[in-house]
Amino acid sequence: MLSALAEPTERDDESTLRPKRLSEFVGQPRVREQLELVLEGAQRRGQPPDHVLLSGPPGLGKTSLSMIIAAELGSAIRITSGPALERAGDLAAMLSNLVEGDVLFIDEIHRIARPAEEMLYLAMEDFRVDVVVGKGPGATSIPLEIAPFTLVGATTRSGQLTGPLRDRFGFTGHMEFYEPHELEQVLRRSATILGVDLRPEGAEEIAGRSRGTPRIANRLLRRVRDFAEVRADGEVTREVARAALKVYDVDDLGLDRLDRAVLSALVRSFGGGPVGVSTLAVAVGEEPTTVEEVCEPYLVRAGMLARTPRGRVATALAWAHLGLTPPPQAPGEGTRWPPVE
Ligand SMILES: Nc1ncnc2c1ncn2[C@@H]1O[C@H](COP(=O)(O)OP(=O)(O)O)[C@@H](O)[C@H]1O
Ligand SMILES: [Mg+2]
Repeated sequence: MLSALAEPTERDDESTLRPKRLSEFVGQPRVREQLELVLEGAQRRGQPPDHVLLSGPPGLGKTSLSMIIAAELGSAIRITSGPALERAGDLAAMLSNLVEGDVLFIDEIHRIARPAEEMLYLAMEDFRVDVVVGKGPGATSIPLEIAPFTLVGATTRSGQLTGPLRDRFGFTGHMEFYEPHELEQVLRRSATILGVDLRPEGAEEIAGRSRGTPRIANRLLRRVRDFAEVRADGEVTREVARAALKVYDVDDLGLDRLDRAVLSALVRSFGGGPVGVSTLAVAVGEEPTTVEEVCEPYLVRAGMLARTPRGRVATALAWAHLGLTPPPQAPGEGTRWPPVE
């Protein structure tokens, strides 16, 4: 319910709800303003803008923003992803098909294979690739011109990008979790598109449990709508939203079963930590990457979990949320630890 990753069945809904222009894109004021300048500047000079990197947790609007960049430029967008670019040849084919001014979107760019990444350096810098023909001592490399284009890369793990790749982006937008009032705005927009009778208090209730993530807000809205239509008269009031979210096991802080399982294991099995993420993942029967990328960013942001050099630690707030008394050594809310990637 609360995973920030899109379910395959959600894809159609997502494209209906995706903002199409920068003016429709809610929140992220900093990234939006910076991007506006980058795009406007380039358009005035009549050149494709610098390459753009968008980084941040899933569901915050990276893919939407990439499409918006192309729309604002009036350019075509070609979409691929890091894992799809396993061989440099796959990338060479994409690059050589680009038309001047195109936007090339590479999702999950941190997962690109090394040979493709190296080809990308030259392409980004000089709009050129060297295609190697043949093998062994007889191999020759043929330089190939490519049309000036703008690369837009998206990543949930910017720490995993190599320095040389990161350096070749002219602009990096760091996407932040959304404030509740911004999520209410996202919800109002979605409700209008979907024809849901969403009351302000209903929006407030859903926004507060959406983990700062528009994708989750939209998903909760669809589930609450089902409940409102089946068990009530269709109107999404605060009471209807509350009752619906109770059915789906979403608590008042937006934590779901897995988040609570993680906190509970951390507190009850490991005395509040520190404990390594893999150990914690085993304790809840999940993959470490799921715990790390799906649960943790929000638990950290909500001030319940701290990532320390020695492992994960439950804060006093986490103990309290589970109805337990925190031990004296539990870090307080808002404790700042050195960030670890
Ligand atoms: N700023 C925003 N304003 C309105 N809706 C948004 C915004 N950001 C994301 N969304 C909604 O959330 C969904 C997921 O966004 P997406 O761009 O796919 O996120 P990401 O690529 O970062 O995982 C989109 O379909 C869209 O409906
Ligand atoms: Mg995406």
